[in-house]
Amino acid sequence: MISKKAVVVVVSAMTCFALVGTLVAYAAAIPAEAEYIGSKKCRMCHMKEHKTWKATKHASNFDTLKGDEVKNPDCLKCHTTGYGKPGGFVSVEATPALKGTGCESCHGPGSEHRKAAKSSPKFPGGAKNINKVPQNACIQCHNPHVNQKARVAKLRAAAGG
Ligand code: HEC
Ligand code: HEC
Ligand code: HEC
Ligand code: HEC
Repeated sequence: MISKKAVVVVVSAMTCFALVGTLVAYAAAIPAEAEYIGSKKCRMCHMKEHKTWKATKHASNFDTLKGDEVKNPDCLKCHTTGYGKPGGFVSVEATPALKGTGCESCHGPGSEHRKAAKSSPKFPGGAKNINKVPQNACIQCHNPHVNQKARVAKLRAAAGG
């Protein structure tokens, strides 16, 4: 007879493998060479999603930054797309298409997905090289315990503006 303990060990080992498998599958979803291309380049194939996104503040939240804030890393990591990541936002001059919280802030860099879609009109396995949104995507930028408006008002007052 197999002991209860042995069953527990086997089952936890299986859960562990399944979990690792899921993580690996997620990590492998987007090739390492993928770059951020900007939300406009997604529009031709995803008109509907682009329209709904465009109507949110995600599309325009770069414009709430004033003066030198557009160069402040402490602002850019949430008010741009891919800041600090390879191929992500660098500056208004160098990467104007990556202002604001674009598609790729949530779905990951899209150059390889676009390439695959363009090279094959029917695009079999259409989800190629792009992410479904991971559950922790939003908390990169949203923390319900931080009052962003108050925090920003304080910083601006301290900076004399
Ligand atoms: C040349 C056309 C094309 C371009 C450009 C394109 N996509 Fe797609 N995308 C597709 C097709 C086709 C599918 C699969 C069919 C569908 O779900 O609409 C797809 C699917 C997706 C999915 C769903 C994935 C899934 O797991 O179901 C997401 C998310 C996505 N695209 C995001 C993007 C983003 C973000 C961009 C821009 C960076 C982009 N796409 C650019 C054609 C394109
Ligand atoms: C890269 C950073 C970033 C990510 C990731 C992000 N957000 Fe946001 N979000 C913002 C910023 C910045 C604002 C504030 C825009 C403003 O007020 O100017 C915002 C605003 C919003 C708003 C208000 C929209 C409006 O038009 O009034 C909602 C709702 C929201 N986010 C939900 C989400 C959800 C849900 C996710 C995950 C699926 C998410 N966000 C991921 C940065 C982000
Ligand atoms: C950790 C992510 C994060 C960082 C860093 C960040 N913001 Fe935000 N910001 C947000 C989110 C999310 C919101 C929306 C807050 C909400 O609705 O609760 C927001 C809202 C704002 C708003 C209010 C816009 C409106 O519609 O009233 C301004 C202004 C702003 N941020 C400016 C800044 C500035 C300036 C900095 C740098 C000092 C900064 N933010 C840094 C995530 C961030
Ligand atoms: C704030 C995060 C966020 C942004 C920004 C965002 N998406 Fe999504 N997107 C989601 C979530 C969440 C879903 C639904 C759950 C999932 O599929 O993981 C989704 C689903 C999709 C799908 C699958 C079909 C559907 O409508 O459910 C496509 C295609 C897509 N997004 C394309 C885009 C494109 C193109 C942009 C930019 C124009 C964009 N997304 C911007 C979070 C985002």
